[in-house]
Amino acid sequence: MSSTAFQFNERPASSLQPRPGESTLIEVTDYTVAGWKPPANPEDRSRWYCARLEEGQILFFAGTPYKLPADDRDCLIGVRQTSVAYHKNVSYRPREGRIHGLDRASADADRLRAIMGAYSRHVTAFAADFLRPYARGWKLDFASFRSLEERGRDLPLKQRNDLLHTDAFPTRPTNGNRILRVFTNLNPSEPRVWLTGEPFDVIAPRLAPDAGLLACAAKARSSLRPLSRLPGRLGSALGLPVPDRSPYDSFMLGFHDYLKANGAFQDSPAKSRCEFPPNSTWIVFTDSVPHAVLSGRLALEHTYIISEADLMLPEKSPRQVLEKLAGTSLRN
Ligand code: SIN
Ligand code: FE
Repeated sequence: MSSTAFQFNERPASSLQPRPGESTLIEVTDYTVAGWKPPANPEDRSRWYCARLEEGQILFFAGTPYKLPADDRDCLIGVRQTSVAYHKNVSYRPREGRIHGLDRASADADRLRAIMGAYSRHVTAFAADFLRPYARGWKLDFASFRSLEERGRDLPLKQRNDLLHTDAFPTRPTNGNRILRVFTNLNPSEPRVWLTGEPFDVIAPRLAPDAGLLACAAKARSSLRPLSRLPGRLGSALGLPVPDRSPYDSFMLGFHDYLKANGAFQDSPAKSRCEFPPNSTWIVFTDSVPHAVLSGRLALEHTYIISEADLMLPEKSPRQVLEKLAGTSLRN
């Protein structure tokens, strides 16, 4: 495997420019926990960063660019040894203020809920200021605390995090809206190590046909299509847990599994190794940048669903890339 290890603190400014067709890291130096550094023009810089994300770049902060009290950080680091050790990760639903993945009887539950609530508010305030165009129409999805060591986890293929994949949520279809994630490595001494691959608009022309795009397009065009969506639509309208998947969502879910199972894609040399150091934060559209986590424990993550209407480069969005390849709408 040929791979690139990024040295965040030693990279000269010139190397921060993305290379065409590659997912690379752009280190953000004009935004800190105190906000935009003068003389930055927040509106222009914000739009520029949004466009880089949509091209498939990862925005990287050497520190934590939002408020994260030392007490909360220490508590999260300590809590992993007790009640969360039996769960994949702890998730927090900001719109309901509810926490999942923790023993009900856990003495840590109330404290963890309060910490995750504060984390969600602070990281969201930061993201709303740093990525201003997105905050208008975004939907707050879940936040998570990832306490377990990723190296050597024994998981079924579809759930393996150490295989390159693009994200799609089985229970929360986006219908073309985008999955944006903010990660922070809380580990005080070890990096979180990722592999990343070429972005969606580069790999889709090569792989989407083999992953079933044409069959998906044929279903989208079928006159029976409205009927096949009835159960999902009815279920959603009644608040039942039946996902109402567009053809786009069905394809993206299948593509996630297809990439993980594709040995040639996993072995392809077109990937980079990224080591995210302690306390660093990074932002990425995980529905378009193939990623895998090789090692690391103790990370915070928040997901935002970005409205298609707010994108700077909609032609790079997976839905538009796929529709161009398929020659049909994948919305209905
Ligand atoms: C993933 O989204 O595949 C996992 C990334 C991580 O936990 O670092
Ligand atoms: Fe993922």
